[in-house]
Amino acid sequence: MLKDDIIRVLKEEGDYVSGAVIAEKFGVSRMTINNAVKELVSDGYSISAIKNRGYKIQHSSNAYNLSELEDYIDNVSNIYYYDSVTSTNDCLKELARKGAEEGTIVFADHQTAGKGRLGRSFYSPQKKGIYVSYLYRPNCTIAELSTLTARVAVAVSKAIESVCDVKVDIKWVNDLLLNEKKLCGILTELSVIGEGMKPEFAIVGIGLNVNNDIEDFDGELRFKACSLKSETKKEYSRIKILAEIVKNLRVLFYNDKQADLEYYKNRCYNIGKKAVFEYNDDVVTGLVEGLDENNGLIVRLGKEQITLSSGVVSIKTPKGYC
Ligand code: BTN
Repeated sequence: MLKDDIIRVLKEEGDYVSGAVIAEKFGVSRMTINNAVKELVSDGYSISAIKNRGYKIQHSSNAYNLSELEDYIDNVSNIYYYDSVTSTNDCLKELARKGAEEGTIVFADHQTAGKGRLGRSFYSPQKKGIYVSYLYRPNCTIAELSTLTARVAVAVSKAIESVCDVKVDIKWVNDLLLNEKKLCGILTELSVIGEGMKPEFAIVGIGLNVNNDIEDFDGELRFKACSLKSETKKEYSRIKILAEIVKNLRVLFYNDKQADLEYYKNRCYNIGKKAVFEYNDDVVTGLVEGLDENNGLIVRLGKEQITLSSGVVSIKTPKGYC
């Protein structure tokens, strides 16, 4: 594609390259190059143009695509990028059913039908967030996968901390919070084989709000959601954060599981707080006392102590429930 070729030439040169030279190299007119550069700028690239010198790419570009990702990580042969998809999870599920290998990734700039847990939708506007899905083909039992989502939350949280120097809280099971508002959600979808229920594949989908302004969120979301930018007043490179997330997801099963769960516990927002949840067909309130070895939430309900293994828990904050 011409745009990719232009980017490659500008990156290789690292200095101004004249439009005429680029045009000749690819056998097109200078006008075609000029138009392609305009499109690249609207794609998020920072390219300066000086008469009689040509074009130069700046380091601070905000471009988001596969060739940018390639600058930060090895082996992108099984990574698919789309400007817009319905849902990266659905897209990857299709590839998984056709036999895609472990480590296959789908990421997009925009989702038209981003999915959240429990049939909710996930708001996924273009140029603002990271919407990525990762395929695992784990050779283990379902029970052994019970902590997968928690470990993904750790992987994403570490990526945010290392690239953005921002510490987030983890709300059990799988939301990342910043200043008590939702920054990131994780949706894990599992496919199992037959009655033995052996995992065939697991897709973990991550939706992270990066450069949204608070006005970008409508209605309820304006109070419940946030982005890295809305809370820190800084813009971040989505591609750098994505690259770090991918690196962490690639080694997730090689990490020390106990160390990851300890990290989770240290960041777990719920511990020591009251939680409201459904229990025996009732809505009850209990005090969260900790997490067990399978990352279940230990809650005190009067004299009783119970452990929740999944579900949705609301936490009362001064601003309402989060
Ligand atoms: C939640 O908050 O309930 C989970 C949100 C998960 C959103 C991500 S965005 C990438 C992937 N594709 C989807 O359709 N959903 C997940």
